Amino acid sequence: MTFYSSIMKTIDEQGYHFEEWLQPAQIAKDVAQVAERISADYADKEPLFVVVLNGAFVFAADLLRALKDVRCEVTFIRVSSYWGMSTTGQLEFIVPLQQVVDNRDVVIIEDIVDTGLTIHQLKAHLRARGASTIRVAAMLFKPGKLEYNDAKPDYVGHELTDEFVIGYGLDFDGFLRNLPSVYKVKES
Ligand code: IMP
Repeated sequence: MTFYSSIMKTIDEQGYHFEEWLQPAQIAKDVAQVAERISADYADKEPLFVVVLNGAFVFAADLLRALKDVRCEVTFIRVSSYWGMSTTGQLEFIVPLQQVVDNRDVVIIEDIVDTGLTIHQLKAHLRARGASTIRVAAMLFKPGKLEYNDAKPDYVGHELTDEFVIGYGLDFDGFLRNLPSVYKVKES
């Protein structure tokens, strides 16, 4: 039986063992420093935040509420490129962009940048629709796995190597997104 709760230091899911890596207090610090930088950079602009569902909903909720004096709009897009622990290489727009982005300063909010394929394709999508500037805020970034240079996030909460992580919005086959900490998979 899968067993997990918000106070668990370890999680066992589908034969994989996960250990707590970022606790809520650390996540709050990471979010605060990203919010501070975005607030400074967009103080005199009216950015449009594009939240990449599903994974970024937790980070986005915290980040957007931590911004100081930024008049902004928020919209959502849902894409899928991952099943289980490996990428498919194909980005599917499940909920397409509904907002006009022409001449807008766009900030993409993403949970994690891994190969960068998602951001690479999303940026092309937004550019083709006339966005004037596009930046990326990612809670997590795996620099060692980046395959698309233009996908390097401008604002990063925390970097990691190439481990698979779950929690704080990140899922494993759809589950575990609701965990308040981030957990790393461990070889057992
Ligand atoms: P990329 O397109 O390879 O950069 O992957 C981005 C997407 O893959 C993210 O938005 C996540 O949904 C998913 N992803 C990448 N790494 C992880 C991980 O370690 N845990 C959970 N999901 C991940």
